[in-house]
Amino acid sequence: MTDSPPADRPSADVSQGARPYSPGLEGVIAGETSLSFVDGERGRLIYRGYRIGDLVEHGTYPAVANLLWTGDWDAGHHLPTAPVPAEVLTVLRALPSTTKPMDALRTAVSAWGATQDLPWPPTVEQARALTAFVPSALAAFARLRAGQEPVEPDPSLDLVPGFLYQLTGSRPDEGTARALDAYFIVGSEHGFNASTFTARVIISTRSDIASAVAGAIGTMKGPLHGGAPSEVVDQLAEVGSADHAEQWVRDALAKGERLMGFGHRVYRAYDPRAKALRTVAEGMAHKPDWLQLAIEVEDVALRVLAEKHPDRPLKTNVEFYAAPVLMGVGLTPDLFPATFSLARTAGWTAHALEQAANNRLIRPDVNYVGPEERDLPS
Ligand code: COA
Repeated sequence: MTDSPPADRPSADVSQGARPYSPGLEGVIAGETSLSFVDGERGRLIYRGYRIGDLVEHGTYPAVANLLWTGDWDAGHHLPTAPVPAEVLTVLRALPSTTKPMDALRTAVSAWGATQDLPWPPTVEQARALTAFVPSALAAFARLRAGQEPVEPDPSLDLVPGFLYQLTGSRPDEGTARALDAYFIVGSEHGFNASTFTARVIISTRSDIASAVAGAIGTMKGPLHGGAPSEVVDQLAEVGSADHAEQWVRDALAKGERLMGFGHRVYRAYDPRAKALRTVAEGMAHKPDWLQLAIEVEDVALRVLAEKHPDRPLKTNVEFYAAPVLMGVGLTPDLFPATFSLARTAGWTAHALEQAANNRLIRPDVNYVGPEERDLPS
C-alpha cells in the first residue's frame, strides 16, 4: 500500500481493494438462464426461444409454464388449480379482512410449504403443485375477506379459468378467460428481475421451493417491482377526457411526476408485452369504457416524452395495457399485484429448477466501509 487510508476508512487489506462495484448489481451478470431473453434494445422477449407474441396467440398459461419447467412445447398441456389444504385455510381464516392480498398470498405459500414434503432438489412436480395451489389460495382469501366461503377447484378447468371460477363462483366466458390467460403468459417470466433473483438465492442454499416463492412474493410486494397497473387506472381517471390529455401530461411532467405505464429499466423499445396486451384489450367483449381514452393518452404521452427526453427512449411498458385487461376481466385493483405473483410463479419455480440443476451457493462479496480494526472503549 502506498497511500494511507483516511482514518475513518478501512485499508485495502481490510476491505477488497479496487474490485468493481455496481450499486443495485446493475450491469452485473449474476447467472445464466435458458428460460427467457429480454432484448431491451430491440423490444423482443422470448421464452426458450419462442416469441412472446406467438405464445400469447397460440399458447395457454399451462402450456407456457410447462415449457418453462421442461423445455417441451405441448400446446394441449392441462393444469387445473389445486385444493387449498385444510391447514392453510385455517391460517387464511385467521387473517384480518384488512390484510393486503400480497401478505395473504405470501403467508399462504409459507403455510403450504409447512404442510408439504419438499426435498431438495426441487422437481417439476413440486413446481406444478405450487403453481396450481397459488390461484386457489388467493381466490379463497378474496372470498373469505368478503364473508364468502371458498370455492373448491373444478378439475375440468385449466388454471386461469379455474382461478376466475374460484374467485367469483361462476365459470368465466371464454373471452374473459382467454384475456386473463394472455396476461398470465406475459407475466410468467422476465429474466433476472429482483423477485426471480431472490428465488434463486434461496434455492441456492438448498432451501425448498415454497421458501423460494414466499421470498419472491415478499420481493415483488415492493412498489418498485410489483408494478402499478392500478396507478395507470388512477392517472387515466385524472386525465378524464382525450382533449385534456396533452395539458395533463405536460403538467404532470412539469411537476416531476412519472407517467405510469411508461419507461423501463431494460426496454428502450416498445415493450413487446404491452403490444400483446393491447391487442388482447382491444379484442375483449367487456373492455373498460376508458380503453379508447388510454389509447389516445398513450399517443400523446409517447410524443411528449420523446420531446422531453430525446436521448432516452421512454416507451409504453406492460403495465399500461395490463390495467385494462385486469379491469376488463373483473379484478379489483387491489388484487392486481397478487395476480401478477400468480402468473410469475411459473417463472420463479422454473428458475428454482434451473438453479438447482447447476447449483452454486449465491454469496457475493461486499465492500466494507466501516471503521478500521480498533479497541473497545475501556
Ligand atoms: N414518466 C416520466 N419520466 C420518466 C418516466 C416516466 N414513466 N420514466 C423515466 N422517466 C425519466 C426520468 O424522470 C429520468 O429523467 P431525468 O434524466 O431528466 O432525471 C429519465 O427518464 C431516466 O429515468 P430512470 O429512473 O433512470 O429510469 P429507470 O430505467 O431507472 O426507470 C422505471 C425505470 C420503470 C422505474 C421508470 O421508467 C418509471 O418510474 N416508470 C413509471 C412506473 C412504471 O410504469 N412502472 C412499471 C415498470 S414495468
